[in-house]
Amino acid sequence: ADHVRNKLGGSNLFVVSNREPYIHSRQDGAIKVTIPASGLVTAIEPILCACNGTWIAQGSGNADREVVDSHDCLQVPPEDPKYTLRRVWLTKEEEEGYYYGFANEGLWPLCHMAHTRPVFRTSDWSYYNEVNARFADALVEQIADEQAPVVLIQDYHFALLPRMIKERLPHARVAIFWHIPWPNPESFSICPWQQELLDGLLGADLIGFHVQAHCNNFLNTVDRVLEAQVDWERFSVRHKNHWSSVLPFPISVDFLEQGTVKTDSNTAEERSQLIAELGIETTYLGVGVDRLDYTKGIVERFLAVESFLERHPRYQGRFTFIQIGAPTRSNIPQYANFQRDVENEAARINERFGRGRWKPIVLLSRQHSHKEVERYYRLAHLCMVTSLHDGMNLVSKEFIATRDDLRGVLILSLFTGASRELRDAIIVNPYDTEATGEAIAQALEMDVSEIADRMQRMRNAVSDHNIYWWAGNLIGDLCDLRLSRNTVLKT
Ligand code: F6P
Repeated sequence: ADHVRNKLGGSNLFVVSNREPYIHSRQDGAIKVTIPASGLVTAIEPILCACNGTWIAQGSGNADREVVDSHDCLQVPPEDPKYTLRRVWLTKEEEEGYYYGFANEGLWPLCHMAHTRPVFRTSDWSYYNEVNARFADALVEQIADEQAPVVLIQDYHFALLPRMIKERLPHARVAIFWHIPWPNPESFSICPWQQELLDGLLGADLIGFHVQAHCNNFLNTVDRVLEAQVDWERFSVRHKNHWSSVLPFPISVDFLEQGTVKTDSNTAEERSQLIAELGIETTYLGVGVDRLDYTKGIVERFLAVESFLERHPRYQGRFTFIQIGAPTRSNIPQYANFQRDVENEAARINERFGRGRWKPIVLLSRQHSHKEVERYYRLAHLCMVTSLHDGMNLVSKEFIATRDDLRGVLILSLFTGASRELRDAIIVNPYDTEATGEAIAQALEMDVSEIADRMQRMRNAVSDHNIYWWAGNLIGDLCDLRLSRNTVLKT
């Protein structure tokens, strides 16, 4: 945390994201605070706590919706306030068009190779512009007359925001971090507004992705689409007389925070208790933790469990896979259909193999708190992350950070950013369900000393490259850029 504070010098930090870290909802008269299922929130929250900056995000609970004026600020975390949360409240139409529409029916499938066709509507695009402008107003108002503000914009919801901010506050240091993959230029060209998106992003001084391959795809896209100078030696772009650096910053977790639960109690006993609570009988546990999103490869994972049970019948009656699935973006038909597919597939496999009180798959389709999820991470013999495509995937790193007992095997899709760092996972192609099924057998039969060695190496990687390392590098690189090189911006 000191590392991040040092990099900031005396500057104040402003973060913008769509998702807010605390949702305040009124239930039976009382206000209940929940934390959303979001890798972004898990990653960014410790940074804000360490730097007591300002986080601007969409208001999403129902408790304070009446506070629609422009100064809707709270101090959070609720139990121990450390930074300012400013909510921007959107109308139903704005949220439909900007969030569900352009961001999640358009950009999300555009950037993930999960073979879901992107939908682009002109009306969604208008809302996306409008909402980006509303966040620009909120940010400019919050920054007021700060001398050297540092602005970190998060994700694909705000591609237009960097330019909007720099036009109004050329002295602000602005970075945008894109939490999802960037596709190749052909794929990206499906988007009718590719030029506008690139132009908006290139308002930033620094554009961050998880891995170099996404930076390269981005630079190639710029090269094809815009009249811009791409400097491949410095990984930077000159556009409208402004330079933007394009660099990889692999995101991570707060290793210490995640690892706080010590496994000094009797794991076997705790596992038996968990199994009893689930109302099943089994010996070995696997776990998966995801938003119920079609990019996460959950159906493929279930097919791998099926293949494993077919090919290794001695595990029938003894291995259960627990899938924690947080419902997400349910207004979008593909997501509602996907949730049904996941439920049907689990039911089919349970029907096929289940007997007595043993079930091959337990599907828990609701949001779980971090504490609840940690319990599953800690008691599972293996964790499966089988995304069809994923920018980074923080579940893999959370699992590792939790396993201070050096037990537990990670099965990890080669299509995640994390697979480039966590080489000691069993790396799988999730489309190859038989091979992924074999990975389950390999995990269950792995020697304990090998499990410990692999886990130790992965823990070292995550602890060295934790979320503070990520933020320190991002902020450090942003602050080191010479803004004087940039004579931005009005064209
Ligand atoms: O993976 C991309 C991402 O935007 C994350 O950064 C975020 O945690 C996740 O998707 C959740 O999405 P949403 O905020 O739409 O629920």
